[in-house]
Amino acid sequence: MLFSTIVSALLTATAFALPTPNGTNTTVGPENGHLVIVGGNLQNDIIWKRIIDLAGGPDAPIVVIPTAGGDPTYDQSFSSAVTLRNLGAKNVTVLHTYDPEVADTDDFIAPLAEAKGIFFGGGRQWRLVDAYAGTKSEQAFKSVLDRGGVISGSSAGASIIGSFLVRGDTANNQIMIGDHTVGFGYLKNTAIDQHVLVRNRHFDLFDILKVHPDLLGVAIDEDTALVVRGNEVEVIGSTYALFYDRGFWSREELSELKHLPPPETRFYFLKSGDKYDLGTRKVVETVSSVGDNDEL
Ligand SMILES: *[C@@H]1O[C@H](CO)[C@@H](O)[C@H](O)[C@H]1NC(C)=O
Ligand SMILES: *[C@@H]1O[C@H](CO)[C@@H](O)[C@H](O)[C@H]1NC(C)=O
Ligand SMILES: *[C@@H]1O[C@H](CO)[C@@H](O)[C@H](O)[C@H]1NC(C)=O
Repeated sequence: MLFSTIVSALLTATAFALPTPNGTNTTVGPENGHLVIVGGNLQNDIIWKRIIDLAGGPDAPIVVIPTAGGDPTYDQSFSSAVTLRNLGAKNVTVLHTYDPEVADTDDFIAPLAEAKGIFFGGGRQWRLVDAYAGTKSEQAFKSVLDRGGVISGSSAGASIIGSFLVRGDTANNQIMIGDHTVGFGYLKNTAIDQHVLVRNRHFDLFDILKVHPDLLGVAIDEDTALVVRGNEVEVIGSTYALFYDRGFWSREELSELKHLPPPETRFYFLKSGDKYDLGTRKVVETVSSVGDNDEL
């Protein structure tokens, strides 16, 4: 009985074993700089302040891109820019166009020339693609990382950071594989969802992972963020981030008493302070990630 359970567990593990991540299939953070990826409804000052710190402090030039929001116009009083200024950032510029020809001009990208931080606001992620993909703006966004700055975003601004664009359809936000599927890809080989717990979206990423099993799925709840440096991810903020890597991890010791679902239907939760390695696709065990031994 026990033997056959072990054999079938081994067969299951083999059948669903992930290919070794390598080459373009490797999930990696940027070579330089940081990402701060927020699951929507960003309230927590700890997250905002981390963005300012990683940009280089109060004097660092930060550019806020509200374009996903879809309003007819934007000015310098866009809410996220105001929040950053209220928390001490002194050099915050709102930059916006829906026109890719404008986005492709040197005049438009001037505020990005020495920027050390970018924040993409929420809305519909495809609008960011239509305005900026393939333009000088997209190159200028990337250059912020190259000079050691931070790219951050919340909600739509989180999904755009992945390589596969989650919920990218122009018709509505429920089609997981839509008419826009390519994000800006600062986090390679990933699909990033947001608002996950508040909106009960925990099963939605499987629509994508069934078709693209090589992707690492990450779904971040509201007011919660991943801070990425190289391959190291740290969760910060109010609630949880969910990882869909076909593995499982728990603060309590795993035993054969636990009945896990098949690998391709698994996800698990990490909270503030927990760390994850994108290269190995495993939780990094730290003192804070092990349990407090309450046997409940
Ligand atoms: C990774 O590299 C190995 C050895 O070169 C290769 O066999 C495997 O197919 C690669 N995996 C992926 C997912 O590309
Ligand atoms: C990952 O590797 C597989 C097998 O080599 C390939 O079919 C797939 O297109 C690759 N995915 C990416 C995102 O490069
Ligand atoms: C903001 O940063 C830019 C780029 O470094 C700089 O040219 C500009 O003078 C700064 N503005 C303020 C108000 O500090």
